[in-house]
Amino acid sequence: MRTDLPVGIHDLTFATTSLVLTHDELARHTGTNPAKYRHGIGQTSMSIPAADEDIVTMAANAAAPIIERHGTDRIRTVLFATETGIDQSKAAGIHVHQLLGLHRNVRVVELKQACYGATAALQLACALVHADPRQHVLVLASDIARYDLDSPGEATQGAAAAAILITTHPAIATINTPSGLYTRDVMDFWRPNYRTTPIVNGKKSVDTYLEALDLTWHDYQQQGGIPLEKLRAICYHQPFTRMAHKAHHHLLKTTGTTPTTQAIKATTTYNETIGNSYTASLYLALTALLDSTAPLDGETIGLFSYGSGSVAEFLTATLQPGYQPHLRTQAHQQAIADRTPLTYDTYRTLHTAQLPTDGTEHRTPHHTHGTYRLAGTNAHQRLYEAGPARTSST
Ligand code: HMG
Repeated sequence: MRTDLPVGIHDLTFATTSLVLTHDELARHTGTNPAKYRHGIGQTSMSIPAADEDIVTMAANAAAPIIERHGTDRIRTVLFATETGIDQSKAAGIHVHQLLGLHRNVRVVELKQACYGATAALQLACALVHADPRQHVLVLASDIARYDLDSPGEATQGAAAAAILITTHPAIATINTPSGLYTRDVMDFWRPNYRTTPIVNGKKSVDTYLEALDLTWHDYQQQGGIPLEKLRAICYHQPFTRMAHKAHHHLLKTTGTTPTTQAIKATTTYNETIGNSYTASLYLALTALLDSTAPLDGETIGLFSYGSGSVAEFLTATLQPGYQPHLRTQAHQQAIADRTPLTYDTYRTLHTAQLPTDGTEHRTPHHTHGTYRLAGTNAHQRLYEAGPARTSST
């Protein structure tokens, strides 16, 4: 059964880590002018995972309120997008499936293409719901952006998970056709299997991002997309929030469009303080826009998804009438405010810490503020548990 019913985002939320490193603290120790971080890259702080947090715990913490609100009965598929996978074989989403108590009659898979993975998951989810309008698809995008210490990328780290429920008659936004697409084999940022941090050519990555924007926009127009003037705002993938401003100016310039109603500032508030969350970043930009602006009912917004390597997509979403009561603004602001600030020395210790690789038993200290935690490892397995959520003061 294939439906032409509207399909899109019925619920959308995110979780981040319990720890945060401010860029002022980083600047004090790297000798960098804090203005470079604040204005040059547009970041004020970045989320850092505690020893008992990872992509699974963040994703489970993000998805739990969605399950609480909508139940598990109609979820038939979980798509987990990440580029910081914890296993070469098993999908991280299976741990989330277990933690959230989802039914056995569900398919769970992991998707990867750098930061673009979540948009691929979103499109697959929409296609599945079009094919079977009774089903709900849970899209999870969870990543920890971690670069080498003392490298130019270090200031663009961060971590978060977005959870998105895709259904027919969505309460928040429909996902529209067409999309503009782009793929080019380019080595701007990559992480071989034997490395825990990526190799990155920063300048090349920025140039490739802008090239991908040009070409996806061109393709979007070729496919019959609406003109730039009709988009109320554009959410860009934000490896650092200045990138969104750069990208938007670039698009306005190349299309010869006068800046009018497009808002960028409202899309950057969460990413400024959370940092790069790779697959989740674009959806945190969308959440920030929805949480911070006057009602956009009936307005269409653009979404630019970029994943190094590289694949990109320009798509649009139309906000549904009366979507605002479905948002989770307070919980998002709370998640950001609840993080515990780190000293630079503790941050460095956490950055270099590694889980055992010899299969010996290891227990992690209870530091997370979230409900789900990585309790430890044993016999080469990650052990997760659910417990009462802690606040920063507990
Ligand atoms: P860098 O060498 O540290 O910084 O690299 P810079 O010297 O290029 O300076 C950055 C900006 O700060 C410049 O502005 C400076 O002028 C300005 P711009 O010329 O770009 O407009 N600046 C100042 N501004 C105000 N006051 C000051 C001051 N000093 C300097 N005092 C870079 C920066 C982003 C390249 C680096 O952090 C990096 O390599 N990051 C990681 C890669 C990255 O984020 N690439 C983005 C595009 S690729 C992408 O989005 C994909 C990705 O998310 C991964 C995936 O898809 O999986 C990364």
